[in-house]
Amino acid sequence: MHLVVPSDDFAAAWREAHAEWGPGFHEDGFGLTADDDVESAQGFSDWVERLRVDAECTYRWIVQGERVVGGIALRHDSHELADRLGHLGYGVRPSERGRGVASWAVREMLRLAADVGMARVTAVCEVDNAASIATLERAGGERVDFIGSAVRFSIPVP
Ligand SMILES: CC(C)(COP(=O)(O)OP(=O)(O)OC[C@H]1O[C@@H](n2cnc3c(N)ncnc32)[C@H](O)[C@@H]1OP(=O)(O)O)[C@@H](O)C(=O)NCCC(=O)NCCS
Repeated sequence: MHLVVPSDDFAAAWREAHAEWGPGFHEDGFGLTADDDVESAQGFSDWVERLRVDAECTYRWIVQGERVVGGIALRHDSHELADRLGHLGYGVRPSERGRGVASWAVREMLRLAADVGMARVTAVCEVDNAASIATLERAGGERVDFIGSAVRFSIPVP
């Protein structure tokens, strides 16, 4: 597995993964908004370019072989949503869950956090999201506080 910078080179693989999530699912970790037109070639390129030039958030796609298996994003401290939504966001396509993909990607992303000088990263998830909570605990995360129905974790950057 490796983390790749979002790129047009993975357009077909990304679309194949996107189809698996299906309509109505929010693909955490991909930076996708309702305004992005990922169906057209130009729209996809524009979206990828927006991700690549974002100086306040590092986006990576989790790739295994020819497949995009997930996405992960690291908001930097300067990002306006880092306080409320946490630094880390991630999602693994349904068919690839439960085999360590997210745990691996979080560990890798902590290295990128070290590269941008972060000593700790936070992540916020719903209290009933057992898989995400287990992922964060496995990465060394500790519960800090609750925000409504969500819990915030803080993870030391090794
Ligand atoms: C959360 C998510 C990213 C986990 O990805 P994953 O690749 O399946 O996670 P891993 O295989 O690395 O498993 C991590 C831990 O979660 C546990 N886990 C996995 N699926 C689980 C489930 N459905 N229920 C409870 N625990 C689960 C694993 O046992 C593992 O814990 P362990 O290390 O103590 O054994 C994935 O379920 C997902 O994409 N969910 C939808 C998007 C989302 O919720 N993103 C996070 C938003 S905060």
